[in-house]
Amino acid sequence: NVLILDFGSQYTQLIARRVRELNIYCEIHPYHNIPESLDEFKAVILSGSPFSTRAEDAPHPDLSRIKGKFPILAVCYGAQYLAHFNGGSVAPSNIREYGRAKLSMIKAEEPLFKNIQEGTQVWMSHSDTIAKLPENGIRLASTPDVLNAAYRVDGQQIYGIQFHPEVYHTTDGKQLLENFLVHIAGIEQSWTPAAFVDTTVDALKEQLGDDKVVLGLSGGVDSTVAAILLHKAIGKNLYCIFVNNGLLRKNEFSDVLSQYKDMGLNVKGVDASVRFLEALKDVSDPELKRKAIGNAFIEVFDDEAHQVEDVDWLAQGTIYPDVIESVSVNGPSVTIKSHHNVGGLPDFMKLKVVEPLRMLFKDEVRRVGAEMGIDKKLLGRHPFPGPGLAIRILGDITAEKVRILQEVDAIFINGLRKWDLYDKVWQAGAILLPVQSVGVMGDERTYEKVVALRAVESTDGMTADWVNLPYEFLQETSNHIINRVKGVNRVVYDISSKPPATIEWE
Ligand code: XMP
Repeated sequence: NVLILDFGSQYTQLIARRVRELNIYCEIHPYHNIPESLDEFKAVILSGSPFSTRAEDAPHPDLSRIKGKFPILAVCYGAQYLAHFNGGSVAPSNIREYGRAKLSMIKAEEPLFKNIQEGTQVWMSHSDTIAKLPENGIRLASTPDVLNAAYRVDGQQIYGIQFHPEVYHTTDGKQLLENFLVHIAGIEQSWTPAAFVDTTVDALKEQLGDDKVVLGLSGGVDSTVAAILLHKAIGKNLYCIFVNNGLLRKNEFSDVLSQYKDMGLNVKGVDASVRFLEALKDVSDPELKRKAIGNAFIEVFDDEAHQVEDVDWLAQGTIYPDVIESVSVNGPSVTIKSHHNVGGLPDFMKLKVVEPLRMLFKDEVRRVGAEMGIDKKLLGRHPFPGPGLAIRILGDITAEKVRILQEVDAIFINGLRKWDLYDKVWQAGAILLPVQSVGVMGDERTYEKVVALRAVESTDGMTADWVNLPYEFLQETSNHIINRVKGVNRVVYDISSKPPATIEWE
């Protein structure tokens, strides 16, 4: 187990991901909230920070329970902090180092640099530099501009590095982390999806005993993997509820429901399409749509949860990035939506919460799902927003518009699969625009709807680029849509990146 202390760097999550890629388990904790028990940890990594150690409001962690007790790898701010407060000094650098650099000197005999050669590329991102090493510090590496690019403290297992091993541009970053964690700290590389499934299922059995659990399935990866883990642990005591809000993709509800049943899940499909459509009647404002859908979902789910007698727990597919964000140095950015408080909490929200995926990143959720034999196609599905097609129909929503968009979307998505493009795209969908345009079909003039197609590349949805889909594909898709979907006479392709645009249109 590795403890990563976060000083607010944008790269902290990346450190965790790189460590996990080495099949070593790690947890991120904010520097001012070090866990009470450190028994499970075998090494500590200190992250970077947007602060300068010389700034008055810079993070000053209390490391008294850590220093001298664990091997420490201090990255960037961490390395400067340890130098600054242990007899060394930190000064503003003459050149602000940002970007690629090469290690021009490496002490080859040092275990931290095992299998790493001089000349290797590293990623720098700092404006301060370590002018003087801490007491008993030994320089391990330099770049042409940064004399103290890496050091260790003699007699203590403390290592400081000015560059960022977690960033992809540091060519040997993963090797360096492995050197520290495996060769210096002696940690075993035994944290695999199979090991995760075993320990999690055991822990869930212990935690839940004979209790009953309700879980809302969405058709997405997270809720599905959470359900299968819980199903392994408590079998038929897991009650899954899959709500059709009428805003899913074409045939999605029936297809996914039968897939869930094939997996042996105890799942109840609830078709509440009419209720959602009524809640959305004449609503055009995007945020009001979201609110109406959120409220309707809570009501439907609460009704269904009440049908399960003596239920104790609500299971959720929360994953690690949400957890990190809610405890991060910069404070939670997620506020509980206002509608949750209107008229008090619905009953299911008073249940105890179990979150079997709360320590996993998205790609790890997929690997765990694959380990448990969940269908590849289901695990590789694009993200789909909770409010579904409602936010892809600009303006007000009618059953007819939903039907049109479902047809268009199905042609687009099936086409991506047929052309082997689906897995190259992070998210794709069609948008029904609130405009009509003139066309001709045969001898007749038409005045019909316009749809936009959107396909993006991304890693987490925070930033995104439009995908350069082949013209031939776009041509075929456009023909199919206009020929087959009544009411549409024009197709456009969205070529905006995020930022400044967003992925969805509302
Ligand atoms: P934007 O449009 O903000 O979308 O660039 C980023 C990602 O978030 C999804 N999204 C939502 N997901 N409820 C959701 O569950 C929502 O209200 C919502 N709005 C956007 C979007 O599909 C994309 O993956």
